[in-house]
Amino acid sequence: MSMQLQTRFCDIFGIEKPIVLAGMAGNINSAALVAAVSEAGGLGTIAGAYVTPQALRERIREVRALTNRPFAVNLLLFEQPEQQEVTPAFRQWLNQQRERFNLAPWTGDWPTLQDEITDCFTVILEEKPAVFSCAMGLPGKYGESAKAAGMKVVGMATTQAEAEQLVAQRVDAIVAQGGEAGGHRSTFDAGEDGPGECIGTLPLVAQLASTIQRVPVIAAGGIMNGQSIVAALALGAEAVQLGTRFLGCAESTANKVYKERLFNAKETDTAVTRAFSGRPARGVVNHFMKEFDKSRARSLAYPIQNELTKEIRQAAGKALDADYISLWAGQGVGMLQKEEKAADIMNALLEEAQQSFSRLQSWVHEK
Ligand SMILES: Cc1cc2nc3c(=O)[nH]c(=O)nc-3n(C[C@H](O)[C@H](O)[C@H](O)COP(=O)(O)O)c2cc1C
Repeated sequence: MSMQLQTRFCDIFGIEKPIVLAGMAGNINSAALVAAVSEAGGLGTIAGAYVTPQALRERIREVRALTNRPFAVNLLLFEQPEQQEVTPAFRQWLNQQRERFNLAPWTGDWPTLQDEITDCFTVILEEKPAVFSCAMGLPGKYGESAKAAGMKVVGMATTQAEAEQLVAQRVDAIVAQGGEAGGHRSTFDAGEDGPGECIGTLPLVAQLASTIQRVPVIAAGGIMNGQSIVAALALGAEAVQLGTRFLGCAESTANKVYKERLFNAKETDTAVTRAFSGRPARGVVNHFMKEFDKSRARSLAYPIQNELTKEIRQAAGKALDADYISLWAGQGVGMLQKEEKAADIMNALLEEAQQSFSRLQSWVHEK
C-alpha cells in the first residue's frame, strides 16, 4: 500500500511529497542529487553559494537535463562585513594551521570579496527555476524580483522575529531551522561570538507553525527518518527540509574522508563552531575546531574567515585530511550508517512515515 502525503506546501510548490533537499553549499549537492530528489516527488535544491555565476548556470542546466520537475536554487544572503582588527591570537592560530600544509604565513592583507550574490541572482532570474530560497538574511530586493518573475520564494528563520520579518516580505514558505541542524546557522544577526540562535527544532517548529499560519512552515534540523517527518508534521509543519540525511548518499559529492567521518560519527560528536567561516555552523568536531577553541582567538566576520581558511581547507581536501576540512553535519549524524542512493532514501522516508502513521493510529481508540 502506498501513501499519498499531500500538504498545502505540495499544492503551492507543485510537488508530490513535502520533502525538501537542503541546498548544501561546498560541493555536495550534485546535479544528480538535486534531480533525484525532484524526480522522487520532493523538491531538490541547488546550492548557489561559493560558486561562480557561470558554474551556477551550468548546474541549473545540468539539473534541467535530468528532470522536468520543479527544483530550487539557494543563496546565502549575508551582509558584507567592515574591516576589523585582527588579534595576535587569531594570526598565530591561522599561521599554525597554514604551516601544517606548507602554506606561507598570511600577509595580513584583508581579502577583497567579489559580490557574487548579485551576479548569481542575475543567473537565477535568467534561468528561472521554480523556487528561489535563501538563508542568513531577508530576501529583500532579490525576493521581490524572483516573485515578479513568477518564482516561489522561501526564507529561513531561527526565531519568531525572523519568521515575522519573512512573512512581511511575502515569502511563500518559511524554513524553521532548529539548533540541531547541520551547516551554518541562518540567524540573521549572529553577532561576533557564540552559536547564534539555537532553539531546538521541536519548540521552534511548534511555535512558528502555531503563530505563522499564512504560509507553510518547513521543519529543518535533525530530521533523519520517516518517524521524524511524522513528528514534524504533527507539530504543524507542512514540509521538512533534510541536509544531513543526504550528505552520505551516493550522489553527494562530499569527499570520501568526509563521508567516512559521517558514517563513524556518534550523536555526541557535533558542535557549533566559528572556526571555519567566522559564522556559527554545526559540524563533526575535528582537530581544526579544537585548535581554534584552544587558541581563544576571536573570530573574524563571515565570510572573511571563510576566505582566510580556504587554502587550508583546499590543501587538506587534496591530502584527504579530514581534520582540517569542515565536516558540516547535524545532530542526527549518528543515524547515518552507509551510502545509499537518493531515490532509495526518499522511498525509505515515505515508507517509514507510513509505518509511523499506522503505529500512531493503532494507539487511538474510540471510547
Ligand atoms: C553540508 C551542509 C551545507 C549546508 N549549506 C547550506 C546552504 O548553502 N544554504 C542553506 O540554506 N542551508 C544550508 N545548510 C543548512 C540546511 O539548509 C538545513 O538547515 C540543515 O541541513 C537541516 O538540518 P539537518 O542537516 O539536520 O538535516 C547546509 C547544511 C549542511 C549539512
